[in-house]
Order: sequence, then structure tokens, then C-alpha cells
Amino acid sequence: MNHELIIVLNSDGHRGIAVGRAVREMQVFCEVLSHKTTIDEIKGKDPKGIIITGDFSTVEKDLAALNIPLLHMQDEDENKISDFLFKTCVLKGDWIMENVAYELVEAMKEKIGGKKVLCALSGGVDSTVVAVMLHKACGKNLNCIFVDHGLMRLNEGDEVERVFTKDFNINITRVNAQDRFLGKLKGVTDPEQKRKIIGEEFIRVFEEEGKKIGAVDFLAQGTIYPDVIESGMDGSALVKSHHNVGGLPDVIDFNEIVEPLRDLFKDEVRKAGLALGIDEELIYRQPFPGPGLGVRVLGEITKEKLDILRQTDHIYREEIKKAGLDRKIWQYFTIFTGLRSVGVKDSARAYGYTIALRAVNSRYTVTAEWVRIPYDVLEVISERITSEVPEITRVVYDITGKPPASIEWE
Ligand code: XMP
Repeated sequence: MNHELIIVLNSDGHRGIAVGRAVREMQVFCEVLSHKTTIDEIKGKDPKGIIITGDFSTVEKDLAALNIPLLHMQDEDENKISDFLFKTCVLKGDWIMENVAYELVEAMKEKIGGKKVLCALSGGVDSTVVAVMLHKACGKNLNCIFVDHGLMRLNEGDEVERVFTKDFNINITRVNAQDRFLGKLKGVTDPEQKRKIIGEEFIRVFEEEGKKIGAVDFLAQGTIYPDVIESGMDGSALVKSHHNVGGLPDVIDFNEIVEPLRDLFKDEVRKAGLALGIDEELIYRQPFPGPGLGVRVLGEITKEKLDILRQTDHIYREEIKKAGLDRKIWQYFTIFTGLRSVGVKDSARAYGYTIALRAVNSRYTVTAEWVRIPYDVLEVISERITSEVPEITRVVYDITGKPPASIEWE
């Protein structure tokens, strides 16, 4: 791909990312690099302009000698960025996702040729776009493995399978591993231990299925640009904002990794997905943690608790959608707290479970604020949950920001 390039030199944690996103939104391609990048490396990329965020005083003299337009940003003022891009650097703005999506397909086609690719599908936005993009690039040479660990939301497994087979005719192996995961998780209450077990088991199942498919040339990864930026930054500059399940399986025989989304921010992944014809429902899904509902059932995970949680979560999502809030809230979900309290159901004393509702808005997941869902919407949610789910006698609303609380409860 050949696009006009702006370099954002980042010494200021999230500001560099925010500026980078603003540049991309103005349809200009940019790379966000550490302020420690060498002058030669910058020069070699042939940028049309350089934006410096935070202090960068140490190499400024050398940068000025490059004769490339420079802009200092202490804030995220979009007018300043726009003037710099289009007046100072006289750019056209050629980073248009509808085109970029297909350029990426072409680039993948060239890279992969007629070879075999293996891809893990989670049903999340990133892996969905990766799979559809690679399918367009290599058709039946793409093999997807979808591990259903039983920790997904109501009907989600069937939905993922349906979309990939019916809508896109993609080669997919669904592994129904619910019992296997629940077996491993039996009696385990420690949150970190649960996460570790789920992550490791995921890799084991993926390896086993991968081996059945046999040697592949490429393993696909859903790495996106914020991951790339973070791995290039000082450890101190950013709190790691996401944690994917497991690592790379080392038993599967593959030669190379393909990462078709590694240049894209999350909102660009969504636009590319829409351009490739993926359904809006899938594209605007809220983020979902790798360990799934496993971190939303506090303490030991059982099928019964998961089923109760799934029902409450389904009601919550239905009502949020009905209220027109589904695209206005970053993440909203229910938590099975395991707490029991006294209540009254059908005119008799009931000793039921407590469900918590969480709704947060967040930009980079490192911080988050709780969402002020209107009382009347909360009321309907509470009434429906307590009347439709027999085991629940109490619904509470989490009004804690991050920090100090994390978004998930475990
Ligand atoms: P926390 O709970 O750390 O969540 O405030 C921040 C964001 O990350 C998601 N999350 C995870 N994602 N694997 C993931 O892929 C995980 O183990 C995991 N834990 C939390 C969470 O849903 C939120 O969006």
C-alpha cells in the first residue's frame, strides 16, 4: 500500500494515540512512533510531515534539518491538525477505509498466494474482520477454528457459526468444548487461576484441531494498531490496556504470521468490516473479554450460574437496545455475584441470588466512567430480570469508575 504518510512522535502516553486517531479520521495515514526512533529510521519512511506530542526537545534540531514540516502538539486540537495536514503539508487525504479494506485484501492475496492459512475465530469484531478479509484473499485455503468454550452469551455460538457458514461460506470448524472447560474449572475460585485455565485450555483445543488440519503456511492474528504502538513504547508510558487469551500455540506447524489489521485502529477495523459486507450487528458488538462470562461469574463457575447469567445479560441487552442506548455505551453486562439475600416471590419467602448491572464508557479501557442509564430503563431491566429469571431476587447497579474498580469484576 502506498499512502501519504505523517509520523506522530509520541512521548506522552495516550496523547500520541489520540493525535494519531485524529489524523486518521482526517483520512491521512500516520504511524505513531516512540520518541526514541532514530532520525535515519524516520527519514527512511519518507514522511510528508512530523507531529511531535509532548516534549521532544532532544532530537528537535536533527529533525528540523530533515526539512520536513513539523508540528508540536500539547493538546488534541483538531483544527491545528487539519491546518497542518492540508495547508502546511498540502496532503490529498488518501486514507479512505472503503478503499483500504480492498487494498488489504489484495496485499494478503499477494502475500499468501495459493497457500494455507489457519485462523482462530472468537466472534469478536477483530477476528471476524480478519476472517472475512482472508477469505476474500484466499477462499477455501482459509481454515477457521472456533472454540466454543461455553462461556459465551446466549445463542452466541450458534450465531457465530451461522454468520460464517451461511453469510460468507467460510471453512469453519466449531469445537464444542463446553464440558471440557467446565471440567477444568470445577472447584476453582481464584480469578487469576480461572483466567489462566481458560487461556491455556483454549490454546490446547486450538492446537489439537490445528493438528487435525495439518501443516499450514500462515497463522492469522487479529493484532490491531494500538497493540503495535504499545509494544513499541516504554513500559512506563502505558498501562497495558488489553490482555488476549493465551499466547501463540507452538505445537502447530506454521511458517509465518499474517496480521492484516496491524495498521488499523479499532474504528478503522469497523469501517473496513462494513466495507467488506459484514453485518452491522456484528461490527458494532461491544468488546467481550477473551475468558468470556468466566470473569463475570464470581467464584466457582458452574453451568447453572452461567445459564442464569446468560438470561439476565440477554434481558439487559434487549432493554438497552430498545432504549436506543446500545451504540452509546462502550460496554454493558451483568455479573453473577453469587450473593444471596432474602426476598419475596409468589407471596413466599425467597432466598435468591443478586445480579449486578455494569455499564461503562471508556476510550482506551485504561480508564472508564459508569454510565448514567435513565432510571426508567433501569426499572424495566430490574423488573424483567426478577420476574423472568426465577433464581434472582435482587438487582444492583454498579456506580464505580475505573480506577479504582476495573471494568470486569474479576
Ligand atoms: P478491565 O476489567 O481490566 O477490562 O478493566 C478492560 C477491558 O479489557 C477487557 N478484558 C479482557 N479482554 N482478555 C481479554 O481479551 C481478558 O482476560 C480480559 N479481561 C478484561 C474488558 O472486557 C474491558 O473491555
